[in-house]
Amino acid sequence: MPISWQFEFHEEVESTQDLVRAKPDAVEGYSVSAARQTKGRGRFGNKWVSETGNLYTSFLLKPREPKTDWGQYGFALSLAVFDTVKELGPAAEFIQIKWPNDVLVNGKKIAGILLEAHDENIIVGIGLNIASPPEAGIGLQDVTSETLGFTSVQRVLYTALGNNIAILRKEGFATVRTRWLQYAAFLGQNIKVRLPESTIEGIFTNINEQGALALRLPDGAEKLITSGEIFGM
Ligand code: BTN
Repeated sequence: MPISWQFEFHEEVESTQDLVRAKPDAVEGYSVSAARQTKGRGRFGNKWVSETGNLYTSFLLKPREPKTDWGQYGFALSLAVFDTVKELGPAAEFIQIKWPNDVLVNGKKIAGILLEAHDENIIVGIGLNIASPPEAGIGLQDVTSETLGFTSVQRVLYTALGNNIAILRKEGFATVRTRWLQYAAFLGQNIKVRLPESTIEGIFTNINEQGALALRLPDGAEKLITSGEIFGM
């Protein structure tokens, strides 16, 4: 069964994540979007600056898989954002996905995805820059001559989300992983990985069946990274 999206829109909220989280018994596909957020949040407790002009959206996902596999959704979701950017903006060669699920255009971040597990639910949050990217980022409006509205971007995004979640559920992670690796930033290259207590370096060689990043360390050993931030060198 495809997800049936139930959309709610607000002009201003603290965070769309909190509104979805407040309704754990809502149906899968319950979605809250806002024109701006006053307390938008990103991964690792970072603030997500949320001025008017971009898309801020969260939705409820009810995974059937064991919790150890929930990370796989992040890869399907980042492919959905990739597909959205490709449909509305530049050709695929300019778009990359930075592990685990940031989407980059010309090396600059255009979208971030936050997954927050809560009991049996995942609350997915997506911030997609359209016309007000932060200074170091890029927006869809920077890479297309079409004038893009919030509603049309949201429509394309949610169609892509439905498609990519369906592929994960029907075909499994192997299909998602193969496609994700085609667009991975820094694959095969030397990277830095910022971990909570340290920063390490190595070659990004692969992602495994759970979505962990495989890093070949300078001594030849392989280390699996399940959470962290990567940087090219
Ligand atoms: C990241 O750090 O890259 C993830 C950013 C996620 C931002 C989105 S915007 C909609 C939703 N509401 C939030 O407060 N955060 C997410």
